[in-house]
Amino acid sequence: MKLDYTWESPARYQRWGPYLSFDGPASSCMRVTWRSKFYSTSRWVEFGKTISCGKRKDEGIVDRPSRAHSFLLDGLEPGTTYYYKISRPEDVVLAERGEQPVYSFTTGPPDGTRVPFDFCVAGDIHARDGNVRRLLNCMEKNVPASRFLLSCGDPVYHGGVDEAWNELFCQLDPWCTRVPFMNATGNHDTDHPETYARFLDTFRHPYHDRKTGAYYSFQYGNVACIVLDSTNAGQAAATQGVVSDEQLEWLERELAARARKDSWVFVFMHHPMYSTGDTGSLHVYELAYLDLFNEHQVDAVFYGHDHLFEVYWTGRDTPWGGTHYVLAGNGATANLDMRDPSLVPPPTYLWKGRTYVPERDGLLGGNVVGGPRNDEVVRSSYVYGILEPGFAHVHVDGDECELRAWGLENQVYFKDRFGRTGHGKRYHPPGFVQAF
Ligand SMILES: [Fe+2]
Ligand SMILES: [Fe+2]
Repeated sequence: MKLDYTWESPARYQRWGPYLSFDGPASSCMRVTWRSKFYSTSRWVEFGKTISCGKRKDEGIVDRPSRAHSFLLDGLEPGTTYYYKISRPEDVVLAERGEQPVYSFTTGPPDGTRVPFDFCVAGDIHARDGNVRRLLNCMEKNVPASRFLLSCGDPVYHGGVDEAWNELFCQLDPWCTRVPFMNATGNHDTDHPETYARFLDTFRHPYHDRKTGAYYSFQYGNVACIVLDSTNAGQAAATQGVVSDEQLEWLERELAARARKDSWVFVFMHHPMYSTGDTGSLHVYELAYLDLFNEHQVDAVFYGHDHLFEVYWTGRDTPWGGTHYVLAGNGATANLDMRDPSLVPPPTYLWKGRTYVPERDGLLGGNVVGGPRNDEVVRSSYVYGILEPGFAHVHVDGDECELRAWGLENQVYFKDRFGRTGHGKRYHPPGFVQAF
């Protein structure tokens, strides 16, 4: 695999982005953020619908030199490609030779419109050793029109260490200059109030209340995305969930406002509601959210933390069709840490192969003490599992969508089509494209 580290070693890479995020309506806003190796006192961004840009946002000369800058471009036209240039010294120095980089992005369609589109979900990227580049190469090849990537937490191994973030942004470049990178908090990046502050500073999303958590929502076409902060403003340990009253009340209001309208409702978070991985299903989130998700008929919930891919489908016999729960924690992780068979005594729970299909493999055993939960809810709603790195891909087309699980060797392990809640949630039996 060819790695394109043009500047220096990944750990010392300090030229982050520019990277994009939604921070307001996806149809009319885009946030552009970057970091430079060198300090500068000027900060501006030029943008426009042609390669010569034309418009300029300029904060003038500031007293205190800085390496990190962020601009919100608003008042943009929906579904339109914009070009932009930034004031980063490494970019500007190339202007003399007429080689200053010009980047581009495309805004989302008008809110509520039913334009078909794709997006991807990858939890637990844990950047190291070129793994993110591998993920992005696969994504660009197979889902070239992905409108955004939603990272369900843990993009790095240690959110308190500069080198970890440098490594991530080294690998995200140049993909992140053209596709918004949306993030949910993970325990590796927000395990402490200090790392939480760094997360907020790095990822500029439309947070509702930064004091009580990095939770927010955004609309893309006919999809409402609700992103929860399962580490709750940097208070959660890896295996313990925390849910604050403020976040819960906000979620209730969001669901009441968005659910059962004309949009799909997808929820994203880090910790698993249902999982048979190392951490397993976390009761605290089920207790906090399940009734709410059922009451508002949420279409799908995506999360990570356990480093594998699984699909659950609860409430499939209800009149409204139930909810898909998608564990997408296999996002390019170098170590898929399923229970280690070399442990003494050996764990009583192991998949037979790299995939798990209840119809083929039979039901899993009972709960393992100190291990993954495997109760009736998990067993009855389990659809499919994969123990390979990859990402989830969602193709939305009106009131139907297709969920695919890609492996990094360009395989489709799993695909499943389903209709939107409230529209006779039609279910198509999942296709197991690649069996092992
Ligand atoms: Fe993780
Ligand atoms: Fe995690």
